[in-house]
Amino acid sequence: MIRMKISAKMKKALNDQVRLEADATNNYLAMASWCEVTGYEGAANYFYSQSDEERTHMLKIVHYLNDMGAIATISATKAPATSHKSLETLIKAALKNEQAVTKAIHKMVEISQRDKDHSTYAFLEWFVNEQVQEETKFETLLQKFDLIGRDKLAINEIDKLLAAQATASAEPAA
Ligand SMILES: [Fe+2]
Ligand SMILES: [Fe+2]
Repeated sequence: MIRMKISAKMKKALNDQVRLEADATNNYLAMASWCEVTGYEGAANYFYSQSDEERTHMLKIVHYLNDMGAIATISATKAPATSHKSLETLIKAALKNEQAVTKAIHKMVEISQRDKDHSTYAFLEWFVNEQVQEETKFETLLQKFDLIGRDKLAINEIDKLLAAQATASAEPAA
């Protein structure tokens, strides 16, 4: 067993974040499934890969906690919503979720600064940047409803757009 290299407060915050990322992976999985049965094939693929992404975030933090001798805790997750009014409200819910995650990550950065914990500060930098991208992604998607419309043809266009983005993110990084 290695000595714990982070504060108890930092450990708790990181473990809370493990749960938030687990909630996110489940939430996006439920969204993907809803899209699939509703006939939004592109959106389904998009959210299935979004769910995978959140799992990799969760794993990053689990490994970090264990590397720091802090021991990751895997706890129960919240049951995600099983149905949505529309694709637009679903994406709004996704954005809200990302905004909450951003807040939690910024709080962790503040703890790492107070602790003068340079390792965790550096570790969190990736997440800070990732959240900027995540929020922008969903904000841009929400704009599409204003730009293209909300009728059946418009939603079909947005679904195709999501399909293209899902394949783009599924390709291995160069
Ligand atoms: Fe995440
Ligand atoms: Fe995310």
